[in-house]
Amino acid sequence: MKKISVFFFVILFFAQNGFTQNIYPIIPLPQQIIEAKGSFILNKYVVVQNFTKNQAVKSALQPLKAKIEQITATKLLSNGSKSANKTIQIRLSNTIANAEGYQLHITPTQISIKAKTSAGVFYAVQTLLQLTNNQANYSAKIPCATIIDAPRFAYRGIMLDVARHFMPIDFIKKYIDELARLKINRFHWHLTDGQAFRFESKKYPLLQYAKSTQWPTNEGFYTQQEMKAMVKYAQERAVTIIPEIDIPSHSQALLSAYPEYGCLDSLGQSFNGQGELCPNEKSIAFVKDLLDEVMDVFPSKNIHIGGDEASKLNWKNCTVCKKRRKELHLNNVDELQSNFIKSLAAHLNNKGRNMIGWDEIMDGGLAPNATVMAWRSTENGVKAAKMKHQVIMSPTSHCYLDYYQAENPNEPLANNGYISLAKIYAFEPIPNEINEAEKKYIIGVQANLWTEQVATGSHAEYMTFPRAIALAEVAWANPKNKNYTHFLSSIPNYLKGLEERRVNYAKHFYEIKTNVILDTNQTLKIELSTASNNAPLYYTLDGSSPTTQSQLYQGPITIGKPTLLKVAAVMKNEVVDETITNISINKATGVKVELSEPPSKYYNKGGVAALTNGVFGAIKRYNDKEWLGWDTKGVEAMLDFNKIETITNVSLRFFHQPSSWVWLPSKVEIWGSKDGSNYNLLN
Ligand code: ACM
Ligand code: ZN
Repeated sequence: MKKISVFFFVILFFAQNGFTQNIYPIIPLPQQIIEAKGSFILNKYVVVQNFTKNQAVKSALQPLKAKIEQITATKLLSNGSKSANKTIQIRLSNTIANAEGYQLHITPTQISIKAKTSAGVFYAVQTLLQLTNNQANYSAKIPCATIIDAPRFAYRGIMLDVARHFMPIDFIKKYIDELARLKINRFHWHLTDGQAFRFESKKYPLLQYAKSTQWPTNEGFYTQQEMKAMVKYAQERAVTIIPEIDIPSHSQALLSAYPEYGCLDSLGQSFNGQGELCPNEKSIAFVKDLLDEVMDVFPSKNIHIGGDEASKLNWKNCTVCKKRRKELHLNNVDELQSNFIKSLAAHLNNKGRNMIGWDEIMDGGLAPNATVMAWRSTENGVKAAKMKHQVIMSPTSHCYLDYYQAENPNEPLANNGYISLAKIYAFEPIPNEINEAEKKYIIGVQANLWTEQVATGSHAEYMTFPRAIALAEVAWANPKNKNYTHFLSSIPNYLKGLEERRVNYAKHFYEIKTNVILDTNQTLKIELSTASNNAPLYYTLDGSSPTTQSQLYQGPITIGKPTLLKVAAVMKNEVVDETITNISINKATGVKVELSEPPSKYYNKGGVAALTNGVFGAIKRYNDKEWLGWDTKGVEAMLDFNKIETITNVSLRFFHQPSSWVWLPSKVEIWGSKDGSNYNLLN
């Protein structure tokens, strides 16, 4: 998580703070859909003819066969009968240019799937499944069309952190299943972190039992056998698993098991600092040894070595580090890290593999051939691409699934940050600064789910879906065809599948936006909208839950007294999003505030009006639009009542979360004046 250092000081006076029919609801959006009339009726007389002898194609067809058997309640005969009059035919063809591309031709009597590889067949099957509408009488309808499809990016990833919280094998399978349906082809498995080491090492068996003393976490690790089986499971779904062993930082657990790879203090005692390995020859040999085991389990061309967020403070003081820097003529600790990473990259290259690292691997000099996962900013990705290195865009601005997905104060605790479905959908992985020749270095995009706040598979699903659905479209679709309204019109069909498979998704497709406005008479009004601008909104002001029988929102709602406003977005008569806003009216509500210092740009979403708009800031979230923050020494806020006002009671709200560099003010004073020039301290 990116941390922003800020001195926080805030004064909050009193009250602070149906779509048109879409018959091709395919996600991610194919490159080309040529619509046609009619449909293919899928029933027990349909036969599947696989004209390939390819084993991987056979397994790619498995979900289709299972679906047909489920719909028709009939066991499919192997390869069907040649004389069948309704067939689904599968062929591999070199006329398809993209290795993951496919063509799907659907007529009333035949479905033909053509692809270059088994991955293309797998994707054609996913598309077909999304088009299949179950009917009565053990049959289904598939609308006719020709679909010509291929991904925009070769790397389409999701990262899951299983170190902060261990996730069981069955859940990992379910997760990979869901990613594969979205044509996501990389599962980045973040296996180690400060909290725990989830990779079974046979050479260093203390690792998998190691615990950080700093953070409690749940038990668990994956055996090599389990991980090898998972590799195969993923392969059958066209997914490559990219393992991550996060070094040299995020290694508290590792160092608690093997402190000899840490730094030494001036007295020669081992010293873990913030959990960084001492980047010396002994540690390099140890990590190489470990990476050999990792490569043995994971055949992926790319191996992720982390490289993020090393504080490097211990390295400045450690006697071994200091000696090494002198010997190798390394100018600073960034170069020391770079030297360490380069040794590991060379080791991977010697074994025919390639290194991926978070974008800090650029600091102090980037290892030859290394792929950069740009997370701190897209600018770091641009920098790497200009150095002719491959880049995966995964910035905190758009791709962090551990951040909140809704402004609703009732959301479960998440890492601070806000990435809505619309925001992730809008992500463009190739920034304007990239020229035509450099575009090829941006190989793809990835979203990350860190699990500090996510203890269960069900919660991981909640954070992942629906945002991963939007990520899939970013990764696959042609940006010229992308359209958020169309995407939302495809979503209901996708949700049916998620529900059938019992995937716990968040209902924030139509996120309700509550905007408090003050009209020219300083009267408080609430303006409502949704991310889609389409779903009707119903509201209540009496605390009851809104339904389609409640008041339909048609324009700003005037609020004259303390009110609990509940709003529901409705789609096909179902509530798909709900918000609650507590509006507290008092003498300061709507009063203009003048500030002596502007808020920090990071904590100024709602502007100064947020201080007196009658709406409280969310309790767990310092970066919502109702809180303001300052990184100055202090701030004066002036409320001008325009008349003499009797004040008997003043209340203020502050946010305090030192782990995020957000603090209470050290001192608060309230002063008052009758004439605007002479002020008295009020007690
Ligand atoms: C990261 O979020 N520390 C890569
Ligand atoms: Zn050291």
